[in-house]
Amino acid sequence: MSDNERLLSVIENYLALAELPAEPELLYAPIGYSLAGGGKRLRPMLLLLACGIFSDDVQQALPAAAAVEVFHNFTLLHDDIMDNAALRRGKPSVHAKWGRNVAILSGDAMLIWAYRLLAGVPAVALPRVLETFNGMALEVCEGQQYDMDFESRPKVSVVEYLHMIEQKTSVLLAGSVVIGAMLGGASDEDCRKLRNFAIELGLAFQLQDDLLDSYGDERLGKAIGGDILEGKKTYLMITAMSRADDATREELRRLLADATMLPAEKIGAVKSIYDRLDVPRLTEQQIGLRFERALGILSTLSVGAARTESMREYAAGLMGRKK
Ligand code: IPE
Ligand code: IPE
Ligand code: MG
Ligand code: MG
Ligand code: MG
Repeated sequence: MSDNERLLSVIENYLALAELPAEPELLYAPIGYSLAGGGKRLRPMLLLLACGIFSDDVQQALPAAAAVEVFHNFTLLHDDIMDNAALRRGKPSVHAKWGRNVAILSGDAMLIWAYRLLAGVPAVALPRVLETFNGMALEVCEGQQYDMDFESRPKVSVVEYLHMIEQKTSVLLAGSVVIGAMLGGASDEDCRKLRNFAIELGLAFQLQDDLLDSYGDERLGKAIGGDILEGKKTYLMITAMSRADDATREELRRLLADATMLPAEKIGAVKSIYDRLDVPRLTEQQIGLRFERALGILSTLSVGAARTESMREYAAGLMGRKK
C-alpha cells in the first residue's frame, strides 16, 4: 500500500465512523447513500496532504477533512437537481431516487453537519479555519449561480468561464489545502502559495470534468452528454463557438435550441462539430497547461522537495482520471 492509499483509507475509516440517526429515514438515508462511497475523496485528500507538508500529525486535521467532504457531497445533491442529472457515481442521484424535496433538505442537513465537523478542529485554529471555510462556501454558491446564468446566455467568454469554474470548483480545493496547511502550522506565505496551486489544479480538474462529460465512458458514473443537453457553457462549447465559421456557429445554436431531437442524436451532432474543430485536443492542451502551472507553484514552497512529494504524486495521478 502506498502512503497515499493509506491516507485514503484513513479518510474512509473516519467517514465510516459517523453514525447517522435512523429517523427520519428520508432525511438521513440519502446522506448515508451519498457519503457511502464511490467518490474520489479529492478534497479531504488535498487537506490532509497539505497538512502533511508541514506537520507529521495529520490526525488532528481529520474532522476538517471530513467537513470538506461532507460539504462537497452537499453541493452535489443540489447540483444534480440544478443540472437535471439522474446519475451520480453510477447510481441514481439522490433527487432521482427520492425526489427533489428530499435532496434539498438532506443537502441542507449535510451543510449543517459539515459545520458540526468543523467545530472539531483545535480551538486555537478555529477562527481562521471558519473564516476560510465560510468565504469558500459562499464563493461556491456564486460560481454555481454563474454556471446557471450562462446556460441561457448566447455568448460567454473564456475569461468569464474561467472565473465561474474557479468559484464553483477551484475555491473548494483551495479552501481544503489552506485549511490543511493552517492546521499543519504553515506560514501565511506558504498558505497563499498552496492556495494558488489548488486554484490552478481546480481549473485543470474542472476542464477535465467538462471533457469527460462529453468524451468519458461509463466509468465516470454520470450520464455522458449531460452538459450538452443542459446547454452548459463549458470550455468545449465556448471553444467550438469561437472557432466555428458563421454557418457552423448557427448550426450549433440551432442544435442546442432544438427540443424535439432525441438526446443521443443531439449529443452526437454536437460532438461531431467538436471533433471537426479539434476541440478535445485544445481542451487537453489547456488541462496540461494548468496542471503544469499547479506543479510549478508547489515547487516554490519554503519546505524541501521531499515534503511535497506525496502531494505532487497525488496531483499527477488526477491527470489520468476516468471518474
Ligand atoms: C464532482 O467532483 C464535481 C466537480 C467539481 C466536477 P468529483 O469528481 O470530485 O466527485 P466525486 O466526489 O469524486 O464523485
Ligand atoms: C459541479 O460542477 C460543481 C459543484 C458541485 C459545486 P458540475 O455540475 O460540472 O459537476 P458534475 O459534472 O455534476 O459532477
Ligand atoms: Mg453543475
Ligand atoms: Mg452537475
Ligand atoms: Mg461536470
